Amino acid sequence: MKFTLDASPVTSLDTACLVIGVFDETPLQGSAKLIDKASNGALQQLIDSSDIDPAWKCSTMLHGLPGIAAKRILVMGCGEPEKFDQVRYDAVCTSAGVFLRDNATTSAHICLQEMEHGEAKKVAGDDSKDDAYWRLRQAAVNLDRANYCYTTTKKRKEDDNEPLASLSFNAGEEMQAALDEARGMARGYLRSTELGNLPPNICTPAYLADIAHEIAGEYENVSLDVLEQDEMARLKMSALLAVGRGSVNRPRLIILKYQGKDDSSQPIVLVGKGITFDTGGISLKPGTNMEQMKFDMGGAASVIGAFEACAYMRLPINVVCIVAAAENMPDGNAYRPGDVLTSMSGKTIEVINTDAEGRLVLCDALTYSQRFKPAALIDVATLTGACVIALGHHASAVMSKHDDLADELIDAGQRAVDRGWRLPLWDDYQPQLKSEFADMKNVGGMAAGSITAGCFLSRFAKDQRWAHIDCAGSTWIWGGDKGSTGRPAGLLTQYLINQAG
Ligand code: BES
Ligand code: MN
Ligand code: ZN
Repeated sequence: MKFTLDASPVTSLDTACLVIGVFDETPLQGSAKLIDKASNGALQQLIDSSDIDPAWKCSTMLHGLPGIAAKRILVMGCGEPEKFDQVRYDAVCTSAGVFLRDNATTSAHICLQEMEHGEAKKVAGDDSKDDAYWRLRQAAVNLDRANYCYTTTKKRKEDDNEPLASLSFNAGEEMQAALDEARGMARGYLRSTELGNLPPNICTPAYLADIAHEIAGEYENVSLDVLEQDEMARLKMSALLAVGRGSVNRPRLIILKYQGKDDSSQPIVLVGKGITFDTGGISLKPGTNMEQMKFDMGGAASVIGAFEACAYMRLPINVVCIVAAAENMPDGNAYRPGDVLTSMSGKTIEVINTDAEGRLVLCDALTYSQRFKPAALIDVATLTGACVIALGHHASAVMSKHDDLADELIDAGQRAVDRGWRLPLWDDYQPQLKSEFADMKNVGGMAAGSITAGCFLSRFAKDQRWAHIDCAGSTWIWGGDKGSTGRPAGLLTQYLINQAG
């Protein structure tokens, strides 16, 4: 989508649609006030007669308002100003995006960024100039995301609406940087969302490697290594290889490197779980909803997305993105419960359940990643169903023994409105992984399933500044409107932006 800035007067702007916001029981302000004046009070009258609902997320389309050059005006209700926080602002932008798409609008002029949140709701720790920056960026990112439409394996119907193609924002050149940041973030989300939605017969480990290749070719300062089976065998990645053994789609370890700073600067290393389909393996999952297990590469999708966003924005940091890609299938050659695997680290793992495969591919990827001497090591994975039980679809779980790193990730999630919530990684949980036949087993029982999965990974990230993000709930919407959200690409991109300073 094309984003531009245009600070010319809104009342005389020739656009298909102006998008403005109004608060409940509050005098009109900014562009809304100008429009009301130019239309001889028509806007306020429509509010007074209840033809416009100023309640939060309500939308009203006006046609041919007198004295206004724009053909249409979309009025977004923002509700009570004192309740209007970042999350509410974000949701208004998304609603506007959905409404525009549903109403066949291909271009629009956005004024929503004028809707300041209440005094106490400012973006944490930042000044008001930064608030305006943040609002513009979020408007652009959310309108873009709301207009995503999956079409790769589905023809658009003749009568389907054209999606939004271009947006202008009522702001001047001083907001150029916010718009650039929005472009980067939107690109990361788009990449992640599309990968998450692709079917598992297309999005295989080899396909993820192809995408990485495409990214390496498209951006400056990006290089790529792809390890195939023989190379991984030489490195003794038996845990990762075991998971992929039941599938004809052979596993890959994909390593993307971005150098935005001199060589000596330690990189941020992002590691993604890239299970392109999770049947559960020999510990086969039930059939209902199994088709949705194509999103088991949501962690990989989001680290690739954030990596691409970083390369697009040319952030002055070094980043390594590692994807552990495999398909978990039952087969005569598949690994089985009872197997004892020797991981790359040398630690042995008793397989209790072949459906706890994510931690097995990640443990070898985490061991491998330490050669890059990470300034921070962050793995992202749709690791446990228990995470969906604990946090639902609203937050990713963040686990780390490093309070500062956990705080940085949660703050980034807050600012991107792609939120994380911390779970403890206390050693008290470690005994649940005790095995009679190996150094550990791959499941920790019913209690605290997300945490014991994190505890398992922690054993492969000793002495590292490491955090684990479980995005099982946040990366995918189940049920009616099912599909990928692209999350937590926003949290990760924001984290990289913050690290770049
Ligand atoms: N990919 C799943 C986790 C998952 C389940 C994500 C449902 C989203 C929705 C993972 O590989 C898995 O199957 N985990 C098991 C672990 C168990 C066997 C210890 C789970 O959560 O049931
Ligand atoms: Mn599984
Ligand atoms: Zn899985």
